[in-house]
Amino acid sequence: MCGIVGYIGKRDAAPLLLSGLKRLEYRGYDSAGIAVLNGALSVVKQKGSVADLENALRESGDKLSGAVAGIAHTRWATHGDPSDRNAHPHLNTTGDIALIHNGIIENHTALRLELSSHGYAFRSATDTEVLVHLIDRIWKEEPALMLEDAVRQALHHVEGAYGLCVISSREPGTLIVARKGSPLVIGIGDGEYFVASDAAPIVEHTRKVVYLGDGEMARITADGYMVKTVENIETEKLITELDFELEEIEKGGYEHFMLKEIFEQPGVMEDVMRGRVRLESGSLHLGGINDNLEQLRKARRIIICACGTSWHAGLIGEYLIEEFARIPVEVDYASEFRYRNPVITPEDVVIVISQSGETADTLAALREAKEKGALVMGICNVVGSTIARETHCGMYTHAGPEIGVASTKAFTAQVIVLYMVALALSQGRTLSDSEIALYLRELSEVPSKVSEILKSSEEIHAIAGSYRNARNFLYLGRGYNFPVALEGALKLKEISYIHAEGYPAAEMKHGPIALIDEDMPVIFIATRDSTYTKILSNIEEVRSRKGRVIAIASEGDEDIRSLADHVIYIPAASAPVTPLLTVIPLQLLAYHIATLRGCNVDRPRNLAKSVTVE
Ligand code: G6P
Repeated sequence: MCGIVGYIGKRDAAPLLLSGLKRLEYRGYDSAGIAVLNGALSVVKQKGSVADLENALRESGDKLSGAVAGIAHTRWATHGDPSDRNAHPHLNTTGDIALIHNGIIENHTALRLELSSHGYAFRSATDTEVLVHLIDRIWKEEPALMLEDAVRQALHHVEGAYGLCVISSREPGTLIVARKGSPLVIGIGDGEYFVASDAAPIVEHTRKVVYLGDGEMARITADGYMVKTVENIETEKLITELDFELEEIEKGGYEHFMLKEIFEQPGVMEDVMRGRVRLESGSLHLGGINDNLEQLRKARRIIICACGTSWHAGLIGEYLIEEFARIPVEVDYASEFRYRNPVITPEDVVIVISQSGETADTLAALREAKEKGALVMGICNVVGSTIARETHCGMYTHAGPEIGVASTKAFTAQVIVLYMVALALSQGRTLSDSEIALYLRELSEVPSKVSEILKSSEEIHAIAGSYRNARNFLYLGRGYNFPVALEGALKLKEISYIHAEGYPAAEMKHGPIALIDEDMPVIFIATRDSTYTKILSNIEEVRSRKGRVIAIASEGDEDIRSLADHVIYIPAASAPVTPLLTVIPLQLLAYHIATLRGCNVDRPRNLAKSVTVE
């Protein structure tokens, strides 16, 4: 949802900013731009990808060279189409202030009207442009102000969310950053400083970072930085050490990040369990929620809030917690939860799940739940993210940076965390120690089973070839596999642009069956569990209407071969761990269909990895 990079120091800024943008492109990729201070303020910006921007920079000769400070942006359009004029940075009329922004200025219409009445002419259709003119106006009225103060005063007029970076040739040695709602990290180098929407562009330069809090801003020069609140109160900031390696955010020989991340899952699963699952003693050690376990166990009800793929993980969490711990669970879309005046009491526990830890709706749901007195637990992937910091307690998924926009390894990591939480909640209550030990053993066997499934990638590629031109897909599953059907359908539509729907298999007869003909491929998740025979009947119903069937089945199930056009086998497993296995072939199928259709799987159109707008 827009990526921001800033640099101030002693090195040539433009190449540093450009390589930073490449690491943030997953946040938005419809236009990109860069502004540096090399005597004057020099800007190159345009519609298109960061690679297009790089070409434009090359063509511009050395227009941006020799600068030691600059800002850069990759955009995911909200207000105004992807175009050259709407690309960031935005400049004031006299071209001596440049600003990049991630978020939404909600009162931009009113501000635009007011600024227009003072003679300001707008060159873009963005909400962002009001900010740069506002800063300009304040600064013109009080030329003695520092840039920092002009920005601060401007922010007092602004409603909405922002992560922003400002530079000006009137005060060339300064970079101003501010944050409300949209993430910003400052990287501390040796006589140089970096700013970015997340740590990915920073880690190759320094491991020391400061996460800017909501309502905070910083003035950064080559000699140091000072963080204050927007109200001008100085704040002490903790310096955090980044704990991931550069290679984790590079492709490592895979054609796409998504494929790399799919194949990383066995290792990631081990990482999620490391130190938490103690097989020898059959016990769990969940540091992040240890102090709150008693309160969690006493919950009258658990409400899980999330968006997108994380919401699907939440649905599996509902099945797991209800089965193991017998605590009633509701799963809500965060965006609905926050606006329907939900009934929440201090006896409730709210679990928010978010890969990025920055999703605006999930963050708002968290705040709503806290305000109503519930204990709020977070399950996040990005360490130090806003959701991780604002929850009372929580667990990191430790999946490592996920770059592909379509979530894969973060999803399975979330499900493993929920599995462990469900078991921890059942301890001393609904499950015996030996039952817990057994469930943990089954979980510990999942990574090697996933490795087995990954070996079918070529076979799945061949199946994908038969369906690459399909216009619709139906995904059906029951029980633990119903959320997997939803997730499989989401993966396909996100990256291949084929319309796909996930449904509980038994619901097919109440509507979707009307769609079935020879052009409708139907994916059945038909593992051997309590609903297996019912699913077989559903398959027959599809076949008799000439639908084409792809079945995800348990190893050794030969009967299903006669019913399905294609069968993809997964190793036998108990129902609660099945989603961690059945989702793998669906991730691969979506990936292969999308690449066969020539789609950019890592950067699907219109999507962004981190959705920091409502
Ligand atoms: C976006 C991403 C999805 C993700 C969802 C929730 O829509 O494209 O992949 O599932 O946001 O993101 P979160 O970071 O909160 O898990």
